Amino acid sequence: MTTEIEVKKKRRRTRRRRRPAAAKELPQIFFCGDPHGCFDQINQAAREYQPDALVILGDMQAPAPLEVVLEEALQYAPVWWIPGNHDSESDEMYDNLWRSKLADKNLHGRAANVCGVRIAGLGGVFRGQVWMPDDPPNYYCPATFIRRVGPGNVWRGGVPRRHRTTIFPSVYQNLMRQHADILVTHEAPSCHRKGFAAIDRLAEALGVKRLFHGHQHEDRAYGRHHGIIMTGVGYRGITSITGEVVIPAQLDPREAAALKSALEWADSHGIDAPPVRTPPPAMVVRTPLPHAAPTFQPPELHPSSDMKPAPSSIKEAEAEQEKRTSRMTRARNRALAEAEKREPRRDAMLGRAVSARAPGGRWKRMQPKKKTGAGSDGGA
Ligand SMILES: [Fe+2]
Repeated sequence: MTTEIEVKKKRRRTRRRRRPAAAKELPQIFFCGDPHGCFDQINQAAREYQPDALVILGDMQAPAPLEVVLEEALQYAPVWWIPGNHDSESDEMYDNLWRSKLADKNLHGRAANVCGVRIAGLGGVFRGQVWMPDDPPNYYCPATFIRRVGPGNVWRGGVPRRHRTTIFPSVYQNLMRQHADILVTHEAPSCHRKGFAAIDRLAEALGVKRLFHGHQHEDRAYGRHHGIIMTGVGYRGITSITGEVVIPAQLDPREAAALKSALEWADSHGIDAPPVRTPPPAMVVRTPLPHAAPTFQPPELHPSSDMKPAPSSIKEAEAEQEKRTSRMTRARNRALAEAEKREPRRDAMLGRAVSARAPGGRWKRMQPKKKTGAGSDGGA
């Protein structure tokens, strides 16, 4: 007959050690740059790669409800989105997002679980009428905005349609209090020349490891910025969760028009146009972007006749520095002495004025009046 202790020992022996948890594999989530009315690339990427989910980074300008324009993509993966500044340009564009069947997939101002990854979203843009970081905001939340602008500016019982894609400080601060793995924004962080440090601070507060943004129409891999891997997804481009280009961005139509007119002008003036950058291949699958961080190029030095040779030792350099400093100090003292001769210093003048006015030549501290006994207000 086995005792209770022996049973426990047996149990202990048979207990297996836990293996260390295997590295969690990232789900394949695609981040889609500003579609501006064209959703073919999103449908194509969903059909060909069948990702786990797709997130659109704003400026959809959907010509029909979102579930209609993305009908094919939705057969393969769920689609999430944040609004861009152009999505409130007309009632139709607004309704095609906020009144579509994908209205609940709007990530603006919240964090949601997308295939096991927590993604936070901040759509829209900063507008000076409401808040332009880092200036103090004019309005804190939509309610204060409506209260001050009056009922004439109310649209569908809320803020004007234009400001439906404006970032209010209340939304931003609410998001600051949450936690996420990835942040998606329409506005760019400060590593873009038109970006905002407020986006960096939000990403840091959320504790995200990656950030994807749209709006600037450029495919950009910034590398680590504030310890966060930041990626810009260009016009109609698609990038994977690990920053690989799935579908390269197209040239911004405004840039294309400017380039065209420049080439036409060069042609008409008989000038050889500079070589144009060749467009990237139509479909590049999981090819890492070259690191976009600028490399420092030291400027070329052109020695001139008046340049002194560099000191050959530290002692020589120190002596040179001391000579320069004492020369500068002497010059400064000389200038001060001359200035004082011309016009006596302000504090010296003030001292003389004080001495002249003060009794006995000095300021005297005011003494409290002695009580005489018969108070003026003590009588009958
Ligand atoms: Fe855009």
